[in-house]
Amino acid sequence: MKLSVIGCGYLGAVHAASMAELGHEVVGVDVDWQKIGLLAEGRAPFFEPGLPEVLTSAIATGRLTFTTDMAEAQGASVHFIAVGTPQRKGEAAADLSYVDSAVNALLPYLSSGDLVVGKSTVPVGTASRLVEKLNGSGADLAWNPEFLREGFAVEDTIRPDRLVYGVPEGEGGDRATALLNEVYATAIANETPLVVTDYATAELVKVSANAFLATKISFINAMAEIAEVTGADVTKLADAIGFDARIGRRFLNAGVGFGGGCLPKDIRAFAARAEELGRGQSVAFLKEVDAINLRRRDRVVELALDALHQEPLGKKVTVLGLSFKPDSDDVRDSPALDVAVRLKGLGADVIATDPQAIENSRRLHPQLAFEETTAAALTGASVVVLVTEWSEYRDLDPSEVAQLAPAATVIDGRNCLDPQAWRSAGFTYVGLGRP
Ligand code: UDX
Repeated sequence: MKLSVIGCGYLGAVHAASMAELGHEVVGVDVDWQKIGLLAEGRAPFFEPGLPEVLTSAIATGRLTFTTDMAEAQGASVHFIAVGTPQRKGEAAADLSYVDSAVNALLPYLSSGDLVVGKSTVPVGTASRLVEKLNGSGADLAWNPEFLREGFAVEDTIRPDRLVYGVPEGEGGDRATALLNEVYATAIANETPLVVTDYATAELVKVSANAFLATKISFINAMAEIAEVTGADVTKLADAIGFDARIGRRFLNAGVGFGGGCLPKDIRAFAARAEELGRGQSVAFLKEVDAINLRRRDRVVELALDALHQEPLGKKVTVLGLSFKPDSDDVRDSPALDVAVRLKGLGADVIATDPQAIENSRRLHPQLAFEETTAAALTGASVVVLVTEWSEYRDLDPSEVAQLAPAATVIDGRNCLDPQAWRSAGFTYVGLGRP
């Protein structure tokens, strides 16, 4: 099939490349010529494992092209809207201006029978508003949320765990479903669960899934707060409750909390939308979820200050990790970067490192000092704060670190180190919600 993907950021670039990999002919469109320039050369504008390989191989087949010219979307039968919906400046609600301008710019190039497919995460009610814009174009609209995780984005797109189509009632819905089934023929043939529903449900599936995940993380972090005053161990607690199949162990890792371009902004936008709908109370708990999450950052800073006897000035603090999670260079709303910035603001001599996210961090916070290698970052540290659980930090050998930073306090902001091993090597080990 011939597809267009409007918006080549995280979601769109991965979607375009993956769809071409699956055999479709895809044109990716974005207003950012620098991004398009990189993608056209097969280079990913961000770090995502597997993406450069898929880009290069799809471009080589001739099935994948990138352009800044919307006119090239003409002739595609399905047009995906994959632009960002960031948090509005100074507000909780989502900024839909990119979605609106993408649809407006696409309108002149739509033909009768085309399908416009929203993939961006939007407040419920957006699709029924946008469908008005398509009136007269002869094109249908579907909402098809994306559930990709950074670090596994290509895999999640090529082999999704479920497909959700929000379609209109009647013939338009049948046409949309048929076209989407053709787009996702491989996943459908592999018996991927499919939910065909209305616009509102499809929009809500995405935000409620992210709200649930955020709630699960904040739940265990709330238990960590209780564990901290009772001497209990939140990691054992998570293991024990996780054996209950109804609860499950995944997303029960207590630590410095969630960040990234999705969970924080999505729960805020959801709460704001619920207020608009007169149902603010229904998701009022999301404000608490957000608050618990942010308190965990305070806690890590507090533990570092305790280790420095409240005298951070000029003391060397090594921050291991800057991205919001491992295998990503994304520092949007990153707890790790936030902790580094706050410790620096308190006067500590912060040296931060990360396998991929230094460049993005430096751009936002040029006041921070960075080291490329873990060893250089660790040398002479009084306090080591591990805030992103990259495998190279999880696998650090305490006896080797002891040569570089003897007797340091190690604050394990992701509860991913073996306390015993670190204590035996002479460190003061402090986890979150662990004795
Ligand atoms: C998330 C959703 O998982 C995905 O389905 C959606 O499409 C986009 O948002 P992503 O932002 O890539 O994906 O990250 P995810 O793996 O969900 O992690 C989010 C944050 O939660 C990270 O900061 C991570 O460190 C944190 N986290 C995750 C925890 O603190 N504890 C956990 O147990 C799991």
